[in-house]
Amino acid sequence: MHLARFPRLRLAHLPTPLEPLPRLSEALGIDLWIKRDDCTGLAGGGNKTRKLEFLLGDAFEQDADTLVTQGAVQSNHVRQTAAAAAAAGLKCEVILEGRTGSKAVDYVHNGNVLMDRLFGAVIRSVPGGSDMPAELEKTAAEIRARGGKPYVIPGGGSNAIGALGYVDCAREIVVQADELDLAIDLIVTATGSAGTHAGLVAGLAVLGADIPVLGIGVRAPKDRQEANVLKLAKETAALLGHPDRVKDEMVVANCDYVGAGYGLIDQAVVDALVLAARTDAILLDPVYTGKAMKGLIALARAGTFEGQRVVFLHTGGAQGLAGYQGELDSMLA
Ligand SMILES: Cc1ncc(COP(=O)(O)O)c(C=O)c1O
Repeated sequence: MHLARFPRLRLAHLPTPLEPLPRLSEALGIDLWIKRDDCTGLAGGGNKTRKLEFLLGDAFEQDADTLVTQGAVQSNHVRQTAAAAAAAGLKCEVILEGRTGSKAVDYVHNGNVLMDRLFGAVIRSVPGGSDMPAELEKTAAEIRARGGKPYVIPGGGSNAIGALGYVDCAREIVVQADELDLAIDLIVTATGSAGTHAGLVAGLAVLGADIPVLGIGVRAPKDRQEANVLKLAKETAALLGHPDRVKDEMVVANCDYVGAGYGLIDQAVVDALVLAARTDAILLDPVYTGKAMKGLIALARAGTFEGQRVVFLHTGGAQGLAGYQGELDSMLA
């Protein structure tokens, strides 16, 4: 594995810390650590910074002048893409899908959306259920017709190039664990558009690290999520020159904690946000890491991690909290 072969624009503060969570571990009765990818930098950090390093490297190779991407209204990926474009001197056009149906003022204008605007992204809004890949292509065609050079980034930055960012994270975790003499039994991460989970699986497989990854789903049912992650993990391993290293059984997702749907929060998510904040002062987000922590807490309490050392990958997202002010207000004790 030789990541220096791939074009890359350095944007992230790396390596991110790998630290124990002493008070949360005690509360859950497990040995829990955290990989702080909420501290990657770039508009407050999060998992997209790592993906965008490789995506922007590719965009510059293609001589693009405008990044085009899409996401839900409170998308962290869109916020970080808008920031990456600003930092790289590129233009940025984004399409926001009203996926949750929320019309709350904070959801539509605050949090990530406010930051998208600060970074100067051109924003177009479409209703929930729109054909987002088609919307991306439409926007790219308009940019081309004006003489511009668009670089289209899929939702979540989740293609094999973006997933290289999480191959690098896998490498970083293994190096840090070796330095700390820390045997890791399991890595737990939120899994959505699949790039983070797929990159980790591909990276660990190519390294031969033998550390399992559990993805906790935030949107799709288990069979669809696992199929998406597996396909992308295999494509990523192929891009690295090792197409056969990823085996089907390496991809495991638990999608029992999605609740009412993507971006819809419930009391158990708020309880997870509260527990992480009030034990080890970790800020999670309502859509991804809060749901992953809801699952991790439930599984820990059911004894699933007995005798295991678990690393929770914090993929960021706290910038979206302000978009959920109304719900949080009514559910916070
Ligand atoms: C904060 C946060 N965590 C996790 C994820 C899920 O990562 P992926 O889309 O690579 O599966 C996202 C995706 O948008 C995110 O914003």
